[in-house]
Amino acid sequence: MDFRKTEFIRSAAGPEGFIRDGLPQVAFAGRSNVGKSSVINRICDRKNFARVGSAPGKTIHINYFLTDKRLYLTDLPGYGYAKVGKDERDRWGKLMETYFAEPGMISFGILVVDIRHAPTKDDVTMYRGFQRTGCPCMVLANKADKLKATQVEESLRCIRDTLKLSEDTLLLPFSAEKGTNRDVLLSTIEKSLGL
Ligand code: GTP
Ligand code: MG
Repeated sequence: MDFRKTEFIRSAAGPEGFIRDGLPQVAFAGRSNVGKSSVINRICDRKNFARVGSAPGKTIHINYFLTDKRLYLTDLPGYGYAKVGKDERDRWGKLMETYFAEPGMISFGILVVDIRHAPTKDDVTMYRGFQRTGCPCMVLANKADKLKATQVEESLRCIRDTLKLSEDTLLLPFSAEKGTNRDVLLSTIEKSLGL
């Protein structure tokens, strides 16, 4: 698998845009600004590839990136941005609901959280959403570069407790900024998809 060979395929605003070609999809969900697009950029080792940091909460789209013609990295729209109005929140809810309800959409779920903060209620709901699909999932604790090494263990424990992760669920400290644990993430994705 060459994760550097990743191309943008399309943006879906609704079910008519969903990709259903049978290739596995690795779905990235998480709060707005937590770094989902940055994680995807880091996976592909590209800068400014998946769009980073512009107008949080405004792009209610699912973005599909095809890696090595073998799997999709699916960038889901973020949630929890305070300034989002009701219409946008409704649009987000409808899009996510249809995506999560359709069987076979998600092959591997990655919930991205901020390692510095306890997961929010929305994070817990999102994680349950992944679980309900029955697909394997993991949690990526991003922005690890912002914590002192001595704080990491305690933060991970808090995240594990709040999300009630089972012992065999991978919770990986990560830094999209520095590339920390990129190799572990890539091998986990490959293994979970049997590639
Ligand atoms: P939405 O698309 O709005 O849902 O946000 P997102 O989750 O895709 O976040 P995005 O990748 O746009 O990153 C948000 C901000 O966090 C940007 O300013 C990034 O540079 C920063 N960021 C992302 N990952 C890291 C990281 O690992 N460390 C640090 N220090 N900053 C990061
Ligand atoms: Mg993004």
